[in-house]
Amino acid sequence: MSAPRTSDCVPAFHEPLIFEEGGAGRRGYSLPALDVEKVDLKKVWPAKLIRKGLDGFPEMSEVEIIRHFTRLSQWNYGVDAGFYPLGSCTMKYNPKVNEDVARLPGFASAHPYLPEELSQGALQMMFELERYLAEVSGMDRVTLQPAAGAQGELTGMLMIRAYLAGQGNPRQKVLVPDTAHGTNPASSSLCGYQVVQVKSNEHGILFPENIAEKMDGDVAAIMITNPNTLGLFEENICEIVDIVHRHGGQVYGDGANLNALMGLTRIGEMGVDVLHFNLHKTFATPHGGGGPGAGPVGVKAHLADYLPNPVVVKEGENYRFHYERPKSIGKVRSFYGNFAILLRAYAYILSMGAEGLKRASLVALLNANYIRARLKEFYHLPYDFPCMHECVFSDRWQNKFGITALDIAKRLMDYGFHPPTIYFPLVVHGALMIEPTESESKETLDQFIDVMIQIAKEAESNPAVIREAPHQTKVSRLDEVLANRKPKLRWKP
Ligand SMILES: Cc1ncc(COP(=O)(O)O)c(C=O)c1O
Repeated sequence: MSAPRTSDCVPAFHEPLIFEEGGAGRRGYSLPALDVEKVDLKKVWPAKLIRKGLDGFPEMSEVEIIRHFTRLSQWNYGVDAGFYPLGSCTMKYNPKVNEDVARLPGFASAHPYLPEELSQGALQMMFELERYLAEVSGMDRVTLQPAAGAQGELTGMLMIRAYLAGQGNPRQKVLVPDTAHGTNPASSSLCGYQVVQVKSNEHGILFPENIAEKMDGDVAAIMITNPNTLGLFEENICEIVDIVHRHGGQVYGDGANLNALMGLTRIGEMGVDVLHFNLHKTFATPHGGGGPGAGPVGVKAHLADYLPNPVVVKEGENYRFHYERPKSIGKVRSFYGNFAILLRAYAYILSMGAEGLKRASLVALLNANYIRARLKEFYHLPYDFPCMHECVFSDRWQNKFGITALDIAKRLMDYGFHPPTIYFPLVVHGALMIEPTESESKETLDQFIDVMIQIAKEAESNPAVIREAPHQTKVSRLDEVLANRKPKLRWKP
């Protein structure tokens, strides 16, 4: 293992601000000489509209600009650069063929106002993607509109509310497990529901007795993530679904972790009434970083009338949007969702095929269990059971040496890895949540594991080097509160 260098050794880290580069009169373009007479602006425009020049505006040649931005891009870490085990977020490498499909001119240049007869290919893609998602999940119908998992949750809960209201009582409460992603209680609350937390048991999953105790005629729904955010399969889901249905409630499935289940089991068959997909996690396009996502929602037949408008229908050989649906909760996003993300998912599903999707889930499970098994001797594993697509350790053993999950995450950067998710799920104190995904080779996993072991040893022998990490990045530890509260967004000469 090479000793950490300091950022002083890396010339790209000394990149000046763009305002400090270039020189007067430099240009990034060359145009042919004017072949018309030059116009004196003062004669054609009022003086107040004529720009006098921008103070400090950079003037640069093409090569200077290209190098400036390329060097800045090298400060970033992305899935194309290396292993990115950000648990729950599923930052997996995705085949570039999906990108090629999304860039096909017929799709990339299609205008959302094109008439239906000129958009048949786009409509067909949407129609088929809905059916593929329904097939993978065991749901009856799907909307592609929501732009993220969280918006899918809101859409799903709005449909549940509308359905229950249609039966005379929207009810008041929603049960949410203590392992849930924060968006679950937020979505329920946005729909006007009171959130009731339910505790998971010593195995990290929900137990039916606890749900039975909390269930009554005021509970509209339970939101269940399967596998949950501890990476554990909710084994009692069928029993829990029965209990909730017996009391007239609905079951919302958070399907953000569907990448663990494809081709292995179908959440719809476990009795779930509504399920959202995170296309940007399961099928293609890495999650996070603020880029666009897509959170389609699947429903069982009794909720199909409530799906957002419009839905795509096929009549004979033609496709069209269908709007005349009086029970629909209405539109949840402009136009038809994040179309280019939908396309990538469609390309991924087609290129993988049913067997490929199943294999992707199996490899994701294998990779996570490999990491779990090899690291559990070095890091505390609070729920020591076989996991699904991710495994959650804690910093408990390193705490003895004054080292926290944050320190471990920072130190990983020195060794060239993106840190895992830390301090989530909340049920694990000092959590380190590792999701390797199916895209990684055994060699990459071994390198990561070796580095994690190295860090565990450093915690004992030289904790200071971890506490002061990272040593090799452009900046070391930021004052994150200050950066959020008082960001420096303007430059003055
Ligand atoms: C379990 C779970 N549910 C919901 C979400 C929310 O998805 P999004 O970030 O697309 O809104 C996530 C995001 O990672 C998640 O992991």
